[in-house]
Amino acid sequence: MASDRFDLRDQVAVVTGAARGLGAAYVQALLDQGAHVVAVDINPIDTAQWNVAGGDVAAVAMAADVADPRSVDEMVSSTLRKFARLDILVNNASIAADLKRQSLLVMESAEWDRVMSVNARGSFLCLQAAARVMVKQGRGKIINVASGTFMSGEPRMLHYVASKGAVIGMTRVAARELGEHGITVNCLAPGLTMTDTLKQSAMFSGQAYETRVRRRAIAREAVPEDLCGAMLFLASPASDFITGQTIVVDGGGAML
Ligand SMILES: NC(=O)c1ccc[n+]([C@@H]2O[C@H](COP(=O)([O-])OP(=O)(O)OC[C@H]3O[C@@H](n4cnc5c(N)ncnc54)[C@H](O)[C@@H]3O)[C@@H](O)[C@H]2O)c1
Repeated sequence: MASDRFDLRDQVAVVTGAARGLGAAYVQALLDQGAHVVAVDINPIDTAQWNVAGGDVAAVAMAADVADPRSVDEMVSSTLRKFARLDILVNNASIAADLKRQSLLVMESAEWDRVMSVNARGSFLCLQAAARVMVKQGRGKIINVASGTFMSGEPRMLHYVASKGAVIGMTRVAARELGEHGITVNCLAPGLTMTDTLKQSAMFSGQAYETRVRRRAIAREAVPEDLCGAMLFLASPASDFITGQTIVVDGGGAML
């Protein structure tokens, strides 16, 4: 296969939830491959964290709430005003690292709604808004972000795991509806991955965490850069005949 099948030069990517964590790593990986990136978050974004030393790429910060349809429409309109196209969506924003674990027996419906509004509805709204542009272009790559917790049925995370099930479900429907328009829709499902935020959390200490890491076929801690190869593959023409799929990136913890 020719190496230009992995080329992302001059492609325009939107990454949601890009202020920190995995989203911030995806932004750098896309910039490194020559894409222009619109980094979107509800929280302030520091663009100085990204290296655009080559000078041929742009990293633009944009405030948006993925759970709000008007905000999502504005995110896409601003992207088009700036770059005139939208080639890649990394649908990554979620209520994730800050989420409190709790038993389903005490989980309140308001907390369920809060998680669903961002993780499920927000993913749908961004997918829909990007797809409307990509259908007109006749081409596009959508990468939704799920989680390995959907495969493991992680206890005390019912709302989160259910929201990621919704993401996998919408990926399959969207793949079937959008295939004829030259758009691929796939899912990336990270396993537990060390970010600056999670480093502070109790999930990254104790025997339960160590056992989890040891059970991986590649028995080491995961770092954000571990996700970037699969993300770039799904963003590139090299994956043009792959759609509706979920790639679990967890060192072989879960095997489907
Ligand atoms: N880190 C992991 O171990 C892990 C494992 C499995 C899946 N994931 C998934 O990967 C993605 C990134 O995870 P992370 O660990 O970097 O999470 P994180 O919580 O560190 O980052 C999420 C980002 O999304 C932003 N965000 C939240 N609500 C938003 C909204 N309404 N609109 C716009 N932005 C919003 C936050 O401000 C934050 O910058 C998430 O979808 C998460 O579910 C992460």
